[in-house]
Amino acid sequence: LSPALIDGFNRRISYVRISVTDRCDLRCTYCMPERQTFLPRKELLSFEELERLSLFLIDRGVERLRITGGEPLVRKGILDFLKRLGQQVHNGRLKELTLTTNGTLLKSAAPHLVEAGIRRVNVSLDSLRPDVFRRITRTGNLGVVLDGIEAAQTAGLRVKLNVVALQQDNRHDLPDIIQFAHARDIDVSLIETMPLGDEIEGREDQFVSLREVMSDLHSFWDITPVSDTTGGPARYYRVAETGGKLGLITPLSHNFCDTCNRVRVTCTGQLYMCLGQDDHVDLRTALREDQTDQSLTDAFKAALSHKPKAHDFFIAGHGAPPPQRTYVPRRTMSV
Ligand code: GTP
Ligand code: 5AD
Ligand code: SF4
Repeated sequence: LSPALIDGFNRRISYVRISVTDRCDLRCTYCMPERQTFLPRKELLSFEELERLSLFLIDRGVERLRITGGEPLVRKGILDFLKRLGQQVHNGRLKELTLTTNGTLLKSAAPHLVEAGIRRVNVSLDSLRPDVFRRITRTGNLGVVLDGIEAAQTAGLRVKLNVVALQQDNRHDLPDIIQFAHARDIDVSLIETMPLGDEIEGREDQFVSLREVMSDLHSFWDITPVSDTTGGPARYYRVAETGGKLGLITPLSHNFCDTCNRVRVTCTGQLYMCLGQDDHVDLRTALREDQTDQSLTDAFKAALSHKPKAHDFFIAGHGAPPPQRTYVPRRTMSV
């Protein structure tokens, strides 16, 4: 086995999030500007390059790979790629292969995902009101996503909902969304909007701290912390009345950087050590120009020594700005 990936603060990287496309069939307001231009295909890592990179990571002790986008299921050939990568789950080298999806294509994909060794998926769903869902996603159809979720469960996938808490669009509907999910044995992660991308309008008006949301929820539910973890950044709670699990992802109000175990790779092969910073290392050149893994090894070495202690996210009016810099990372979650 090659040496593990350990950063300058002695955190071991065991979880890697890989984006396979910047494309998406939705345009969530907190994620993309209304008119988004997408990258030409040649800019993206090919499936061969993605597979080589994944095997490189698994050799270095990465236990979990999360495939994301954009919307990963819109990329042609994705299901075959997942089936090839899934062999690493079947042979026990990878603990978990997972997917974060908007759910629009889940209905037909679900059985293939199961075949690939995927056991759970995170589905983004910010509203159960068709009109609000449409407003947030700009183009989405709620019914299609709900059908996708049902198909995923029928196929045997465990589903978790990712719900971005939005002051105006869904804050007061969060209890209903949680109730809906828990009644179907679906866990929920609530997420604070992160200030990513410089073309996203209205971000500050939509931000609501999950501390405030939790104080609303505590007023009618008995909610207690549990020690479960998925290896991700959420802290989990159990809602006594529904019996379901609620995760909180709170980069702004309670940062979780001390125990960070992850890095992310964009669809163009840029390795970001932290979601909240613009520093990155180019893996695509390392992959394309050196068929041995030496350049990749060097790139990771450089990257790990640069992984910051914590992100610099800051939203005006919510907490003290971080001591050094406060800027908005230019890229969005969708690359
Ligand atoms: P599991 O815990 O494995 O279920 O996954 P996850 O919650 O890490 O993954 P998912 O793709 O569903 O992400 C949920 C939200 O958490 C998204 O808004 C992510 O951007 C956010 N997130 C994931 N990792 C990090 C991180 O390291 N830092 C920050 N700030 N946000 C993260
Ligand atoms: N802040 C918080 N979460 C975001 N997501 C996308 N953009 C943001 C943002 N700016 C979420 C999506 C999806 C996950 C991949 O990231 O809702 O669930
Ligand atoms: Fe697409 Fe997800 Fe971004 Fe929404 S948040 S536009 S579903 S990538």
